Amino acid sequence: MKRLGILLSGRGSNFEAIADSVAAGRIGATIAVVISNRPEARGLEAARERGIDAVSIPSKGLDREIYDRMVVGELRKHEVDLVCLAGFMRLLSAYFVREFPLRILNIHPSLLPAFPGLDAQHQALEHGVKVSGCTVHFVDEFLDHGPIVVQTPVRVRDDDSAETLAARILREEHRIYTEAINIVLSGKWRVEGRRVIAEG
Ligand code: GRF
Repeated sequence: MKRLGILLSGRGSNFEAIADSVAAGRIGATIAVVISNRPEARGLEAARERGIDAVSIPSKGLDREIYDRMVVGELRKHEVDLVCLAGFMRLLSAYFVREFPLRILNIHPSLLPAFPGLDAQHQALEHGVKVSGCTVHFVDEFLDHGPIVVQTPVRVRDDDSAETLAARILREEHRIYTEAINIVLSGKWRVEGRRVIAEG
């Protein structure tokens, strides 16, 4: 059984969607550990309520690589095969990325490469796009940047606020994160340049 490690900084709804998929047998893996850089993250509490190991590793004031060594150590301790960033508000160092080559996923609430970074749903509204969506991608050391595994569109409505758009995108996030994890765990893919190609 493959072992997932979840990194989060806040609410943790993507973590809960993944945990629901694991519990329902839609993902054939276990969640070995949930780690947060913010001790107060709601996602940590949600993990504990589900009986999943939840570890707080505060990042405040620490050099990026020193911090990442602590997180990688915790992931290794739990023998994690695939790392899933779920609202983890930190850039990973090149060291971290090298430790888990093509074994780190992130979810982002836009159709990348549009609107990377913070407040992607707000950025989409400000730009006036008619379609936004969400993306699950492999993580490299650049912001919201690595090869794309799954994307799905969400229509922008004339009466949308950042909140209503974010809520519709979030429902799709919860669905495609499970899909992307299953693709990656199946091992039936390869990366050519920036493209993730399904095999078989
Ligand atoms: C999600 O919108 C995700 O795409 C972004 O951060 C948010 C995290 O939400 N990276 P949650 O903590 O999973 O509820």
